[in-house]
Amino acid sequence: MYPGSFDPLTKGHVNVVSRAAQLCDILHVVILTNPSKKPAFTVEQRMEMAKLCLSKWANIRVDSYQGLLVDYMRDKSIHVVVRGLRSESDFRFETEMAATNALMYPEYETILLPSKTDYSFTSSSMVREVASYGGDISKMVPPEILPIVEERFKQSEQ
Ligand code: PNS
Repeated sequence: MYPGSFDPLTKGHVNVVSRAAQLCDILHVVILTNPSKKPAFTVEQRMEMAKLCLSKWANIRVDSYQGLLVDYMRDKSIHVVVRGLRSESDFRFETEMAATNALMYPEYETILLPSKTDYSFTSSSMVREVASYGGDISKMVPPEILPIVEERFKQSEQ
């Protein structure tokens, strides 16, 4: 399972998906709520964007869930989570998340995939910030959803 808020999906996320999809039979990409972030896109919009970008992989399932990650995993009998790792600060957050989830769900395991250097500094929050100023996000956002993301922030500029 590859969980995240994906608000919006970035080229860095797609790179992690493409690599993780080769490591398992089925990869569940699941949109969850991160309570520390106020989303720019609704869950439905994020699902739609993920489907547009990820439909070319036959072994990927896109889903969403409003609740604890470990409850979703237990319900679907999933034990392994994959997350992208860009920096030391990511490492700290990821190890805290892994340890917290393992306390609730002992079978929980995490695989951390280091980001390709091209995407080491690409994040959804940077995309949102650059887009909100009308900047060029084409190197950060998959082409399939670029117009949707640009349109969303064009509205907020007005
Ligand atoms: O893309 P993000 O924002 O780094 O993803 C974080 C996410 C959504 C995976 C995390 O906040 C999450 O698991 N949210 C669901 C609620 C939960 O289970 N929280 C406790 C574990 S951190």
